[in-house]
Amino acid sequence: MEAYEADIKKSQLKRVLGKWSLTAIGIGAIIGGGIFVLTGTGAYYNAGPALALSFVIAGIACVFAALCYAEFASILPVEGSAYAYAYGTVGEIFAWIIGWGLILEYAMGSMTVAVSWSGYFGKLLKMFGLHLPAWLTTDPQTYLAAGNSGFSMNLPAFIIVLVVISILLRGTKGAAKANNFIVMLKVAAIIFVIVAGAFFIDPANWTPFIPEPTVITENGVSHSAYGYAGIIAGASAIFFAYVGFDAVSTQAGEAINPKKDVPFAIIASLLICTLLYILVSLVLTGMMHYSDFNPLGKYPDAIKAPVAYAFDIAGQAWAGYIITIAATVGLISVLMVMIMGQSRIFLGMSKDGLIPRTFSKVNAETGVPSKNLMILGGVISVVAAFTPINDLAHMTSFGTLFAFTMVCVAVWVLRVKQPNLQRNFRVPALPVIATLGILINIYLIINLSIEAQTYSAIWLLFGFVIYFLYSRKNSKLQNGGFGETFKAEQEPLEEIEIDIDNKD
Ligand code: ALA
Repeated sequence: MEAYEADIKKSQLKRVLGKWSLTAIGIGAIIGGGIFVLTGTGAYYNAGPALALSFVIAGIACVFAALCYAEFASILPVEGSAYAYAYGTVGEIFAWIIGWGLILEYAMGSMTVAVSWSGYFGKLLKMFGLHLPAWLTTDPQTYLAAGNSGFSMNLPAFIIVLVVISILLRGTKGAAKANNFIVMLKVAAIIFVIVAGAFFIDPANWTPFIPEPTVITENGVSHSAYGYAGIIAGASAIFFAYVGFDAVSTQAGEAINPKKDVPFAIIASLLICTLLYILVSLVLTGMMHYSDFNPLGKYPDAIKAPVAYAFDIAGQAWAGYIITIAATVGLISVLMVMIMGQSRIFLGMSKDGLIPRTFSKVNAETGVPSKNLMILGGVISVVAAFTPINDLAHMTSFGTLFAFTMVCVAVWVLRVKQPNLQRNFRVPALPVIATLGILINIYLIINLSIEAQTYSAIWLLFGFVIYFLYSRKNSKLQNGGFGETFKAEQEPLEEIEIDIDNKD
C-alpha cells in the first residue's frame, strides 16, 4: 500500500492553470488548419452559402458533448478526459477502449497537424523566396509514388514535433503562456479575416442561400450536393475544424479550480470558436461564389486554400500572407495542446495500471510527465516524418466522435447510478441532450469515409487484444486495488483550495 501511495505522489501534476488559460487551451486546440482549408470543400461539395448553417449544426453537436464533458469535469478533477470519466462509470474495459480511441484523436491528430504545419511552413518560406526540396518535405511513400527515387522525409513535420515537446518538457505554466500568446495571434487573424473580408462581400453570392439539391459528378464519381441534406453533409465535412475543445478536459489535473473552471473553459472555448467559424464561413461565401471553389473550374487551386484565395481574387494578395502566417503559428498551439492532451490521457491510464508505469512518472522539478512526453514525441515525430498520415486524417474525427458519444452515455449512466453525487455543473434536460448528442455523433461517424471507419474499427479491435494480453493483467483494479481514477471519483467532493498567488 505504501508503495502505491508513493506512486500516486510521483504522478502528481502541478496545478497552475486558471480559467482563462484553460479557455485559451481550448481555443488553442480548436482553431487550426480546419477553418482555413475545409470551408471551400464544405461550400462547393456540400452546402453552398448555407455552409454557415453546417457550422451551426456541427457546433450544436459539439455543444451537446461539451455539456456532458462539463458535467463530468465538475465531478472528477482528474486528467484523462473521456477515459477518466468512463473509468468509474461504465467500467474499466470501456474506459480502456475509449482511451484507446482517444489515441486516434490526440496522437494521430498530432501527426496530421504536424504534416499540415509542414505544408504551411513551406508556403511561408515561399513567401520569402525560399524553397525546400521535395525530398525534405515528403514522406517516402508519397515521394516514390510521384516517380522519384532515393531518401525522403518530412523534415519540418519532424522538427516541429521536437520543438513542441521541448516547450512542453519545461512545464505547463510556460507552455500555457506560449499557448496564450499564439491564441491571441490566431484569434486576431480570424477577426481580421472577418472584418477585412466584410468589405468585399457581394450579397448576390448568398442567393440562393440554400442552393437547390443537385448531383456533382467529378472524374466519373457522382454525389449529391446542396439542399438541406447538403447542410448536414457539410457539418460532417467541416467537423475536423471543431476537434480539440475536449482537450481542456485532459488538463483537469493541472487546473487550479478544476470543478468550476474546466466546465467553464470547455463551453466558453467552443462558443467563441463557433461564433468565429460562422462569421468566417459567411464572409467567405459572400466574397466568392460557392461554385468558384470547383477544382475543375476557373480557379482550380481555390479549394486548397479557400480563405487566402478569396482575398487573392479580391485583389488583396497581402491578406493571404497574414493568413499563412496565422495558420503556421496557429497550428503550433494545436499541436502543443494535442500532445499535452495525449500525454495526460496516458498518464491517467498508467496510474490505473493499464499501460506501463513510466507514463505516470512526473518530473519533480517541472511537474510534467517527462518520459511520457519524450516517448510520445519520438513516436509522433517519426510517424509524421515517414508515413503518408494525411490519408488517415479522418480517423482523428472518428476517435473524437467516438469519445463524444461515450461521454454522453457515461454522464447519463452516472446520473442514474449516483444521482446524489455533488455536481457543480448539471446538464439541463440530460436525457434529451445526451440522446441528441449520441444520435448526432453517431450520425456524423456514419458520414465519415468508409476507409476511416474500417481502419478505426481495426484499431479498436487491436486495442481489445492489448487489453486482454497486457492491461487486464496489470490493472490495479483487477488486482484488488483501486485504479487512481476510480479512487478520485470516490473522494469527497469539496472545493479545491485556490492558490491565489498562482492564479493567472
Ligand atoms: N480543430 C483543429 C484544426 O482545425 C484540429 O486544425
